[in-house]
Amino acid sequence: HSSLRETADDRGFRIGAALNARSLRSDPSYWKAARNEFNAITPENALKMGPLRPSRKTYDFTDADAIVDFGRAHDMYVRGHTLVWHNQKPDWFQAWDYTDEQLETFLRDHVHTVAGRYRAKIDAWDVVNEAVADDGTLRETVWADAMGEEYLDKAFRWAREVTDADLYYNDYGADAVNGKSDAIHDLLSDLLDRGVPIDGVGLQCHALGEWPDPDSVAENVRRFRELGLDVQITEMDVAFPADERPEDALEQQAEYYRAITEACLEAGCDTLVQWGVNDATSWLRGFKDFPERFTGDPLLFDDGCDPKPAYHAVREALVED
Ligand code: G3I
Repeated sequence: HSSLRETADDRGFRIGAALNARSLRSDPSYWKAARNEFNAITPENALKMGPLRPSRKTYDFTDADAIVDFGRAHDMYVRGHTLVWHNQKPDWFQAWDYTDEQLETFLRDHVHTVAGRYRAKIDAWDVVNEAVADDGTLRETVWADAMGEEYLDKAFRWAREVTDADLYYNDYGADAVNGKSDAIHDLLSDLLDRGVPIDGVGLQCHALGEWPDPDSVAENVRRFRELGLDVQITEMDVAFPADERPEDALEQQAEYYRAITEACLEAGCDTLVQWGVNDATSWLRGFKDFPERFTGDPLLFDDGCDPKPAYHAVREALVED
């Protein structure tokens, strides 16, 4: 039968995965799964400021170019992730004794250079990532500290100066209707009122232990769309607490992927990106920065890039009835 990619193409849906350059270069089964099964990609790390900026004045686009070129060569929709984030900044950043003005100039040049370089190649950018704290207030970051809340306005305007890509605000923990997504809804509605060029919102959908209720996700998608924004699921993965893995874990995971795919279709979200291709390369595999641990097989393909029940569930959900 037809691949996930072909099924999604027929449905006018984008099904995507985050990619890393090392696996693309070294693992033919990863490369083949990426090419055959997805019509959308996101570089998982290569476009972040840390990897891109070996020093304050230089750029290293090697990995980013490799992934973006792979996407273009195979006729895929390419999401850029991410221009402005508090995390994964370069190591040298810590020792830099900047003024507020120098930081703003640095960020403007970064946005102009990176978004400008991929002007004809990247379809959508996560311009700002995770700017809202879990309690709904503006997150305290170096950017907010130097530029105030207006750093969001500026980031979107700078991006718009150099690219026609769709410009997204992207965040986690705001997939369903909840306090954080309420706060983001307010924030984006204010940005739109101020004429800031923002086209969409990315709901990451990392389902870790607590899985957002699919009906509530659909409702959340609808209310953002009512603002005039496009909505995409941008970083989905599905895991259990490591010490509570049920025997039918893969089946439960598949049903959840199916439900979220159906929620997307029903609510008018046309893009669902997983945060990786196969379990072996998932960020959750051996991730040590959380106090909790989660199961390390959250994706559609197993370690050897064979399809899991979740793959079949998403594919079935996309088949036109
Ligand atoms: O590339 C270096 C390598 O050179 C070095 O030897 C090695 C030693 O630790 O680290 C490697 O970098 C790691 C990088 O992943 C690539 O594997 C970083 O330490 C590690 O921190 C980084 O983690 C990434 C994480 O963002 C950083 O916060 C994950 O791969 C990536 O999946 C994750 O993605 C985020 C999204 O960007 C935003 N939303 C949440 C999502 C999950 O946390």
